[in-house]
Amino acid sequence: MSECRNDKIHKLKQEKDVVILAHYYVDGEVQRIADYVGDSYFLSKVATGLEQKNILFCGVKFMGESAKLLNPEKKVVMADDLADCPMAHMVTVEKIAEVRAQYDDLAVVCYVNSTAEIKAVSDVCVTSSNALRVVEKLPQKNIFFVPDENLGRYVAKKLPQKNFIFNDGFCHVHKSISVENVMKAKEVCPDALVLTHPECTEDVIAVSDFVGSTSEIIDYATNSDCERFIICTEMGVFFELQEKNPNKKFYSVGHRQFCPNMKKVTLDKVEQALLNMDSEIVLSEKLIEEARKPLQRMLELS
Ligand code: 13P
Ligand code: SF4
Repeated sequence: MSECRNDKIHKLKQEKDVVILAHYYVDGEVQRIADYVGDSYFLSKVATGLEQKNILFCGVKFMGESAKLLNPEKKVVMADDLADCPMAHMVTVEKIAEVRAQYDDLAVVCYVNSTAEIKAVSDVCVTSSNALRVVEKLPQKNIFFVPDENLGRYVAKKLPQKNFIFNDGFCHVHKSISVENVMKAKEVCPDALVLTHPECTEDVIAVSDFVGSTSEIIDYATNSDCERFIICTEMGVFFELQEKNPNKKFYSVGHRQFCPNMKKVTLDKVEQALLNMDSEIVLSEKLIEEARKPLQRMLELS
């Protein structure tokens, strides 16, 4: 049944000249039919060198928007156009203008998990895998980090030479991972290494053995001699972790490591999106011109 649907998807992709990009947080069966699967940084890099005329994005809206910003001439279609990241909306253009007015020497650093409108008023974008590298290279001393406070605090700790101003945005999935649950998992599995995404809270980060983006977590576990890992990020990564490491064991830290927006993307919706090609990302020329600059700057600096 799903074999047959996968064949249909493959055929439609060829017929319509579509490349499928998927984030590690979508379901494994969707990751399996994608041409490229990765973290946010990998997907934005990949998006700059594609030969197909159309992109189908299996992820949340800001990811499709980034693909469109980097490929304005291509049609970018979402597998589910209601899949959106709540954190992307946790800062406003007004708040950024307010903070800009308070500092002369300020860079607005915008996590890619943000809307195109927020990117348009930012100086540079970052992802969880390149934030440190990018912010370190900025000439400004004052850094307004939006929208995610936890990632901002994680980067700030590593760069004491900068003065950070934080915004109170958060990812509800990563915020729900509690240090108590991590310690419980450690009691069950004392030899397991704790691998954590920097959107988690400071106390979880403090008890972790490694902190990195989804791709970095997967690479770390794959290259490690250790056989057991406690994974503090969204459960979608378990698919690739297990594919690459069939003999290693991966433990979750509770039942809420689940992004309901990423999980809106299903194989049925991928097939429908390929048939109709109608959930298109549409941005004005002006917005594309402005919001693309910080993304390109990120690619140059990282
Ligand atoms: P990365 O893709 O950078 O690991 O970020 C995870 C995330 O929350 C995407 O929504
Ligand atoms: Fe947004 Fe968190 Fe879901 Fe990532 S996991 S898309 S940051 S809500």
